[in-house]
Amino acid sequence: MIDEKPYNDCKWHSAPSSDKMVAERKANLFMDTRKDLLQVESLTKTYGKGANQTEALKGISFRVLEGEFLGIMGASGSGKTTLLSCIATMLKPTSGKIILRGQDISGFRGGKLADYRGKEIGYLFQEFELLDNLTARENITLPLALHGVTARQAEQEIQAIASLLDIVPVLDKFPSQMSGGQKQRVAAARALISDPDILLADEPTGALDSKNSKILLDKLATVNSTQNKTIMMVTHDANAASYCSRILFIQDGQLFHELRRNVESESTADFYERIVTVMAQLGGGSANVL
Ligand SMILES: Nc1ncnc2c1ncn2[C@@H]1O[C@H](COP(=O)(O)OP(=O)(O)OP(=O)(O)O)[C@@H](O)[C@H]1O
Ligand SMILES: [Mg+2]
Repeated sequence: MIDEKPYNDCKWHSAPSSDKMVAERKANLFMDTRKDLLQVESLTKTYGKGANQTEALKGISFRVLEGEFLGIMGASGSGKTTLLSCIATMLKPTSGKIILRGQDISGFRGGKLADYRGKEIGYLFQEFELLDNLTARENITLPLALHGVTARQAEQEIQAIASLLDIVPVLDKFPSQMSGGQKQRVAAARALISDPDILLADEPTGALDSKNSKILLDKLATVNSTQNKTIMMVTHDANAASYCSRILFIQDGQLFHELRRNVESESTADFYERIVTVMAQLGGGSANVL
């Protein structure tokens, strides 16, 4: 059961109308039935030393529930990538804990750490681009190859994920022969092929046009709803965020606000409205600053 802590720790509380309160209460009931997958506790990250110090995360606490599609929003420089990088173990937090299914990930070493990075976490980061000299199929199976699974052994999984993400026709093409949308869906297939517990996505639609953004978001939403895959997605885009079941808003390394969608009855359009309202508060009146 999720506690109310994220709300209590938020810097900003809206005064929701009664309709919105009903939506959030129902969303709480929905969320109460889910188990914790990940707990982030009082996480801080300070870059640099002395005069060059930047406190990117200033003690952030929240839970990620199994099977939820969690959005992370906030202005540029607010700490979103830092947060995801700490969870991905690409960065070491300065203090605080990240707990996966009850185990503190900072204690993971050797094979356990390799398993966490390779099998329990899937990354869809812009820096993790496809390798140009490998075909889509080879790029997708790269994480499996690192764990000794051949493309042949994985053929069934590749076919299933490729048809889900609509990339079967490009499986034998090289990245230079694919569209931007296809490349990003191949990257999503690579992130999902090892069936990770959680998919971490940092602005997965950032470089895509609106048509390809919609395709990718629809696919991610399908993976979330049909496979109960937990997704944590950073986005600047209210439209992308409206696909999520919950959104954490970050400001200057702290939790600013949280929105929960009543996934059973609240439309994406209604949720979008609520997101834009918080974005306006967060960005001082303009949604474009995010
Ligand atoms: N390697 C680094 N060394 C020093 N400071 C850094 C480093 N990486 C990030 N920062 C700083 O930490 C803060 C948070 O950065 P972060 O990349 O997490 O922001 P973000 O929310 O992902 O922003 P954006 O939306 O622009 O991607 C910023 O002030 C940034 O300048
Ligand atoms: Mg970032």
